[in-house]
Amino acid sequence: MKTIEIEDSLALTVCMKQAVAFERGLGARVWDEQGRAWLDFTAGWGVTSLGHSHPAIVAAITEQAGKLMQNPNSGFTYSPVRAKLLQQLQPLLPAGLHRVFFANSGAEANDAAVKLARKVTGRERVLAANSSFHGRTLATLSLSGGPENGARFSPQVPGNDFVPYGDIAALRRAIGDDVAAVILEPVQGEGGVRVAPPGYLQSVAQLCHRHGALFIADEVQTGFCRTGSFFAVDDADVQPDILTMGKGIAGGFPFAAFAVSDAVAAGVAKGDHGGTYCGNPLGCAVASAVVAFLVDNEIAARVAQLGLRALADLHLLAQRYPELVREVRGKGLLIGLQLHNDAQVTALASLCLDRRLLVTPTRNAVLRLIPSLLLEQQEWEEGLAILADALRALSAATQHAGRAA
Ligand SMILES: Cc1ncc(COP(=O)(O)O)c(C=O)c1O
Repeated sequence: MKTIEIEDSLALTVCMKQAVAFERGLGARVWDEQGRAWLDFTAGWGVTSLGHSHPAIVAAITEQAGKLMQNPNSGFTYSPVRAKLLQQLQPLLPAGLHRVFFANSGAEANDAAVKLARKVTGRERVLAANSSFHGRTLATLSLSGGPENGARFSPQVPGNDFVPYGDIAALRRAIGDDVAAVILEPVQGEGGVRVAPPGYLQSVAQLCHRHGALFIADEVQTGFCRTGSFFAVDDADVQPDILTMGKGIAGGFPFAAFAVSDAVAAGVAKGDHGGTYCGNPLGCAVASAVVAFLVDNEIAARVAQLGLRALADLHLLAQRYPELVREVRGKGLLIGLQLHNDAQVTALASLCLDRRLLVTPTRNAVLRLIPSLLLEQQEWEEGLAILADALRALSAATQHAGRAA
């Protein structure tokens, strides 16, 4: 039986929109079972930030796997590789965030952040933004999208309220002295690549501090150079009380973290949070290799530069198809093309896939491009040419359908 047939009949959930099974990857490319190469502008939901199977990651896994994968008991033992990663992160974290806890996924990091915010403040209410995405655990789902999003899993975790993203007046009206935390993405990824308006994050932090609430910056998607600075809040000159990390932190190995201020750390006691695999040596070794590579090779600056070039190219392309593209936006290599409706996005993504360019449709009629941070100029141009051809085909098909109607 073919891979696709096996998964189709045995996996709990299957995605058969495009019948393709990938076997291997290298850099910005992946190869399917037929040996055909595809250009990957998804980076596996923004995870493989150094590209697929980067030698530094493969070496770190191989070396650490041969030494120690899981600490005998991390409750009372120290780990050299965890200590090394903590030291590497320290100068990169926003000022004031001195204590770090490692986790296994972005959702888990956010879940813990909100849980600890409630404990430390002694308050229940948490504010999140409409169109947000913080994960799929019960608590993070209850903080994602809007009040209706988690309705099919009712009852949701109570105590959450939603405000429109980027609207500081709305947050001012919603916040009060009963709020434990405000959790926001500096750029909403799943919600359609919505960049926080200038000054918004700073005002959010100020409002939080005025009301004794904690500001949680969810940098699971934006962190580790994705938006052209090490963390997106660096560029906004903001100091959150808690910052959550995931995805690009270990370039493809499941790993995540959250960092907290000393004041938050003071309210956390042993046993408040933990998990069997949290901070395991293998994950720490991979994250350590990724962080070293990002810093040593000044990847943030590279991403900022390529991101500007990409946005300029896309703006020019979009001008040719106003009937399809409403807006091009993004930061660094987190880029979205907002079309007029979701059907157009589905059609465009499908045309890209036909041409072996992998892209991610996301909410609010946006096609998201989130490639490897090491994407070469020539690979960008190749993807851009495919996208241009897909837009041309979609425009022609739309006009044809219009004439036939
Ligand atoms: C901003 C943000 N937070 C949290 C998550 C959840 O991360 P994970 O899928 O690792 O649980 C995601 C995943 O897309 C995300 O984009």
